[in-house]
Amino acid sequence: MEKTDNRFEQIVSLAKRRGFIYPSSEIYGGLSGFWDFGPLGVELKNNLKSEWWGSTVWEKENVVGLDSSIIYNPKVWEVSGHTKHFADPLVECKNCHQRFKADQLTVNPPKARLAKGGSKQQTACPNCGKTEFTEPKMFNLMFKTHVGPVEDEASAAYLRPETAQGIFINFENILKTSRLKLPFGIAQIGKAFRNEITTGNFIFRSREFEQAELEWFCKPKEAEKWFKYWQKERLGWYLRLGMKRKNLRWREHEDRERAHYAVTAFDIEYNFPFGWGEIEGIANRSDYDLKAHKLKYRDEEMGKEVVPYVIEPSMGIERPAFAFLLDAYFEETVRGEKRVVLKLHPKLAPIKVAVLPLVRTDKSLVKIAKEIFEDLKGRFNAAYDEVGSIGRRYRRGDEAGTPFAVTVDAQTTKDKTVTVRERDSMKQKRVAIEELPNYLTGKLL
Ligand code: GAP
Repeated sequence: MEKTDNRFEQIVSLAKRRGFIYPSSEIYGGLSGFWDFGPLGVELKNNLKSEWWGSTVWEKENVVGLDSSIIYNPKVWEVSGHTKHFADPLVECKNCHQRFKADQLTVNPPKARLAKGGSKQQTACPNCGKTEFTEPKMFNLMFKTHVGPVEDEASAAYLRPETAQGIFINFENILKTSRLKLPFGIAQIGKAFRNEITTGNFIFRSREFEQAELEWFCKPKEAEKWFKYWQKERLGWYLRLGMKRKNLRWREHEDRERAHYAVTAFDIEYNFPFGWGEIEGIANRSDYDLKAHKLKYRDEEMGKEVVPYVIEPSMGIERPAFAFLLDAYFEETVRGEKRVVLKLHPKLAPIKVAVLPLVRTDKSLVKIAKEIFEDLKGRFNAAYDEVGSIGRRYRRGDEAGTPFAVTVDAQTTKDKTVTVRERDSMKQKRVAIEELPNYLTGKLL
């Protein structure tokens, strides 16, 4: 079993070839920082989201969910500090006029939000090689739009750069409609948008992406305890889904890179082929946001109003998707032939089982295979495949990360059993058709 070194190019190529990820608007030349998730990609993302939701909302007694709008009253961003602080330092090359984030170059980076992950220190313009740049200017990363038919300052609004503010502005609504008591959490998964100065490293730095965020409200004196609790929970989540511990690390933010709302921040970083890069951030946002929005919690036990502290685990969906794909990618030599296999955890695998008649020319095998497929597809995301040799079909499934292949062969017509082939070990086992749903459920869920 070998882990290959040019995994970046291999994943980009596999993602396109197999329908995980395509450049957005490709037929018109694409649009930098925007990506489309194809038939396998959308399944992977949905699986990541439901694993996150399951472990963060359903499995916890005191966490509820929310799905807020993407565009909020622009006052939200003024009050939250994003209009003023959610900016990156931008410099322009005096020769070719290309613009860069100052901290990607070694040109006098000011105290500001710094690039996290994947950026190299450079003294020369990456475009033309010249070394003269303008002074850094702060560039706000929020996408601006207009609400309604008039395009003036009064109608200006922003696409949210984080989902968290949707939670804060619904804090009172949720308290009124539930019986939550401190500590409690409100979780949300949804789109976020950032007009990044530079994009790159495939889907790592995009302009449109998804976030899965939990705002955990607790007593201020318990904030440190809960910070540690969520650190442990979140790292455990990646490990339970099969990510290798050696490819993950914690990194604490330096003072100058911490977001304007955070008093403590740690990133979970993945060892990408281009270097360690953030896949999730955990921040202690203190009482910053609730105070800014003038929100309070009435503590009935203490008989007074308090402003809780907020611990926030904030995961993107695209970066972990990329990291899980890289972690799962293997090239192996099997009987003198190369096999590419995505050893994704069954819970993340886009297709759980492929149903294959050994040969498509035998109509009795095709009939049984289709019946099995009909039964299984109501239970898991299953695929039916009859095109090509059985070996090629196994490889196709391996490359898509499909953990099981069910093959209907001549013996099936005699004893009503099929072979179940396991993706990673390639071992095959005969299972009665009757037992198949239970057998697979036990392995998959
Ligand atoms: N509410 C806190 C917050 O937004 P963040 O560290 O800026 O914190 C959280 O973002 C996560 O969102 C990151 O760990 C990353 O997974 C994802 N993310 C942020 N910017 C991104 C971008 N430009 N492209 C893709 N994912 C991004």
